[in-house]
Amino acid sequence: MKYLLGVDLGTSATKTVMFDENGQVVASVSQEYPLYQPENGWAEQDPHDWYEATEKTIRAVVEKSGVNASDVKGIGISGQMHGLVMLDKDNEVIRPSIIWCDQRTGEECKEITARVGLDRLMAITANPALTGFTASKILWVRNHEPKNYARCRHILLPKDYVRFRLTGVYATDVSDASGMQLLDIPHRCWSEEILQKLEIDPEWLPRVYESPEVTGCITPEFAAKTGLSPQTVVVGGAGDNAAAAVGTGVVREGRAFTTIGTSGVVFAHMNQPNIDPKGRVHTFCCAVPGAWHVMGVTQAAGLSLHWFRDTLAECYKQKEEETGIDSYALISSDVGKVPRGSRRLLYLPYLMGERTPHLNPNCRGVFFGLSAIHTKQDMLRAVMEGVSYSLRDCQQILQEMNVNTKAMMACGGGARSNVWRQMLADMYGCPVQTIKSKEGPALGAAILAGVGAGIFPDVVSACESLIEPDTTCKPDAAAHVYYEKGHQLYQKLYRQLKDSFDDLASL
Ligand code: XUL
Repeated sequence: MKYLLGVDLGTSATKTVMFDENGQVVASVSQEYPLYQPENGWAEQDPHDWYEATEKTIRAVVEKSGVNASDVKGIGISGQMHGLVMLDKDNEVIRPSIIWCDQRTGEECKEITARVGLDRLMAITANPALTGFTASKILWVRNHEPKNYARCRHILLPKDYVRFRLTGVYATDVSDASGMQLLDIPHRCWSEEILQKLEIDPEWLPRVYESPEVTGCITPEFAAKTGLSPQTVVVGGAGDNAAAAVGTGVVREGRAFTTIGTSGVVFAHMNQPNIDPKGRVHTFCCAVPGAWHVMGVTQAAGLSLHWFRDTLAECYKQKEEETGIDSYALISSDVGKVPRGSRRLLYLPYLMGERTPHLNPNCRGVFFGLSAIHTKQDMLRAVMEGVSYSLRDCQQILQEMNVNTKAMMACGGGARSNVWRQMLADMYGCPVQTIKSKEGPALGAAILAGVGAGIFPDVVSACESLIEPDTTCKPDAAAHVYYEKGHQLYQKLYRQLKDSFDDLASL
């Protein structure tokens, strides 16, 4: 039997999973790390934490599995997208990584649009300048920290920094590189035009690979630290959403998924790059060579529930300690008892600004309709419904673009809750399915590694043989009608508050 490692480098933790060649989990270990928010709307992490978590979890998984380490043939890494890692001439990290949900780069986005022009930006990068993407973060460091910028010799994304520490190779893959706003999305290569107009040295960028391509083998030092063979290959890997697509079998046109992790995403596979002219959703290269995807992003999906639990509902963590039952499972069970609509309470999930559909770094979270009858449980349901309304916004735009989202899978931590999956089915008005494996991005990354290592012939056929459907939540007609009305009010609230969000930002 041969084995593969899928590393899922997320925002709250890195999880390493060992799979056998049939896609079955052999062992899994995760390690959490902090998110730093030095100012309102800023978000940073320490790249050393990502590497240390990867090394530790790989070592632990190899030990725990008891398999002969030389039978582990490949590693695939799925990474949180867009984060900026800058290295100096000695490959030292220059400053903490400014990560995907950071919103500080509004001025730099205007600078990018002025330098490149909106039409060329849309044609080449398939997106307008966005605070979440890496290019504006690079310009922010140039504008605000010239000494750090002067030391920069290499720019890497989060998972590609970890790859560098594993293999000594500077490389990225097309799906993750798509989120830098420096890639020519239709042609799947760095854009000379964008780099030249933004005055970014192309020498700083890693080589771009397709996701299942081998980028190198682990170094003898990393092999010695983890017990793996130095022949273990590391493939291109993918951005976390593109990896989750592979891990849920969303690798053909007509298939889509929703993930609720820290962020929330509605993702659909495409054979051709289809671009929203208003730029409200992202068109990126996907992990299947020669294919693309379109996705809408909710910045604070699981993050909203996590924030609420840690700030206002700590009792669930205490209960977890007492009972051993996961706090989110306890929350989900309580939310299931609250009536649909949270007794006329709405939540706008804009804790970290919003991408789809508003592209607005200034908006912030709102509870609307609070009354003295409301309980913590009502507020928790409102949080889950508010996140789902935001995902419905994403689905609505994909529908406007004639992208079929009817075969909707669900994955990510939030999708473990059947209450949340049912809410999505009711809002979308279509069935929401899960697959048997709960490992989404880690399984996707491992499948990519299996293709690179020659265990599977290609990504699509590997998915066809490894991925099995599991549960289905069917939409309830009455709930759909209710939520359509709720969604209209949810959308109206943003329109009415839009200017006030700007006033708040300038207070
Ligand atoms: C996608 C995005 C997030 C991150 C974090 O554009 O920013 O989904 O990848 O998971």
